[in-house]
Amino acid sequence: MLDELEKLHAEAQQGLHAAATSDDLSTWFRHYLAGKGQITLLTRQVGQLSPEERPVFGQQINVIKKELQTAYESRAEELKMAELEAVMAADTLDVTLPGRQPARGRLHITTQTLRQIYRIFGDMGFQVYRSPDVETDAYNFEMLNFPPHHPAREMQDSFYTNTPDVILRTHTSAGQIRAMHEYYPEPIRVILPGMCYRNEQITARSEIQFYQVEGLAVGHNITFADLKGTLTEFAKRLFGAKRQTRFRASYFPFTEPSAEMDVSCFLCDGKGCQVCKQTGWLEILGCGMVHPVVLRNGGYNPEKYTGFAFGMGPERIAMLKYGINDIRQFWGNDLRFLQQF
Ligand code: PHE
Repeated sequence: MLDELEKLHAEAQQGLHAAATSDDLSTWFRHYLAGKGQITLLTRQVGQLSPEERPVFGQQINVIKKELQTAYESRAEELKMAELEAVMAADTLDVTLPGRQPARGRLHITTQTLRQIYRIFGDMGFQVYRSPDVETDAYNFEMLNFPPHHPAREMQDSFYTNTPDVILRTHTSAGQIRAMHEYYPEPIRVILPGMCYRNEQITARSEIQFYQVEGLAVGHNITFADLKGTLTEFAKRLFGAKRQTRFRASYFPFTEPSAEMDVSCFLCDGKGCQVCKQTGWLEILGCGMVHPVVLRNGGYNPEKYTGFAFGMGPERIAMLKYGINDIRQFWGNDLRFLQQF
């Protein structure tokens, strides 16, 4: 049995050196030293020996067991270190590398402008009223006093759908009648924001889709002075308290009289610059008193009610405010542009 022990000892020593990984080593441990390992089993056979042989064998096997146990532990430590080093070498972690800025989202410049507009009119008591992007010819044109072959329809080239008379709204004025039908006979003070669509050549100055914010006030004794006062106050709040406004006569089928409002140029303070083309004024919106025909189409008796309406383009306002010279930037999804705001 001593021979057997010597053989096992030599074999175990060899096996320990051959173990190249922690897994090999666990297998080795199970094979020799664990509860059912070869060495342990041999220990249990001590009883079969003669009384004289027992102490010699017992001492010998204990020495061998201890030795193997120590060798096992240091081998385990060695392998653990080697494996850790391999993991670190494979990992390209460079602790001196500066951190990367996480990308931060922001609101689109048009959204920011829209919210400024909502805020100002909200403070003046105007509610936001939403009307559909897909409209009928009746709401977009007919009820706004554009008769079927009225030349003013050509001011706005429409996108048509496969359904006759269903179009994409060309202006937010389409929502005026919807708001009147909903509010009648209450007085109205709403703004109607939304995307508008026109079948046009895309250039630096015109896009096929853009936002508008419409305004509509209907009630008793509303006059042109209320229109001027509201819009002048709006211009001061949006562009600065020093801003002046002027109203030029214009034409829209759904307002009478109609006007366009200019704001004194906030870039040169009215002295004259490239943006205002040396005039000192910037045109920012169309407006007018709601046409009696439109009031009637909305259900309001024009003998008893009057109202004013206006419409502006937030992209145009942002272009003026930030000196953006190409409207295509707004929907071009170029982060270099969007991140500036
Ligand atoms: N709908 C007009 C346009 O798109 C603007 C407007 C709105 C004019 C309301 C007067 C009153 O140009």
